[in-house]
Amino acid sequence: MLQVFNSVKEINNFANLQKQQGKKIGFVPTMGYLHEGHISLVKASKEMCDITVVSIFVNPTQFSPNEDLSKYPRDFKRDEKMLSENGVDAIFYPAVDEIYPDGFETYVNLDKISLKHEGEFRPTHFKGVATVVTILFNAVNPDYAFFGRKDAQQAALIEKMVSDLKFNIKVIICPTVREHDGLAMSSRNSYLNPQERKDALVLKSSLNIAEELIKTGETNTVFIIESMKRVIDSVTTSKLDYIKIVDAVSFNEIPRIEKGNRFYILIACRIGKTRLIDNTLIRA
Ligand code: PAJ
Repeated sequence: MLQVFNSVKEINNFANLQKQQGKKIGFVPTMGYLHEGHISLVKASKEMCDITVVSIFVNPTQFSPNEDLSKYPRDFKRDEKMLSENGVDAIFYPAVDEIYPDGFETYVNLDKISLKHEGEFRPTHFKGVATVVTILFNAVNPDYAFFGRKDAQQAALIEKMVSDLKFNIKVIICPTVREHDGLAMSSRNSYLNPQERKDALVLKSSLNIAEELIKTGETNTVFIIESMKRVIDSVTTSKLDYIKIVDAVSFNEIPRIEKGNRFYILIACRIGKTRLIDNTLIRA
């Protein structure tokens, strides 16, 4: 039976009761408007844990004033149905003032990784993510927490935070789930009109081009990025924020690809007014 909790106290009591009974808790933090990407995290949790908790909270502190907080898609009833059908035990669905009551002033920030790549374009974003995930971890008290590789820099930041702050939580990073044509699933895909939905395929096509070049022995990251840019520029609705080739752990850019490197190719691009991100993880 799926239970819904709105307060930190309730979800915390629920979690503690489960733990007293020796149950392992898996936690999937989300902002709702769920799709198969989110559900893949639920499935991973159900495989590894006895109890699966999903949070649904559109976190205001990770949006800057010019971003899409107020129009971020929401449909709690639909989300609840999906989670119920997928055997989730509890949803934590707090109101904004439950997480950020009047007078809230404590933030969690990672000094270095927060400022790179996504952080250059969204300077306060990761501070909001790290803060809310810390609060959610304290509320849910999980043994395992599941994140998607689709948001690769977020996943790396959470792993670093868990290590630095010594949370007793095992972080599991799950593969990106895609639509049949390759577009990475995202709640923000719902903003795309039919033309933009087609044009959005340039993100994945550009990553495919890069993978092919690397397979045939290309090691020059500048050349790879230039080839990707040509794919992005082939549609008029696109406006590139960045393409970066970065070490998979430090997220520092790498100038050349060398044998044994494990790295991400990261891409962030606007299609019309919608900002999309994607990436691929490669072992050379
Ligand atoms: P949200 O965008 O709802 O994503 C919730 C989780 O689902 C994240 O770990 C994200 O990486 C994962 N996810 C999204 N699309 C995916 C896909 N196509 N394949 C696999 N996993 C996917 O990320 C957030 O919310 C927030 O920043 C949050 C961590 C909840 C903090 O507010």
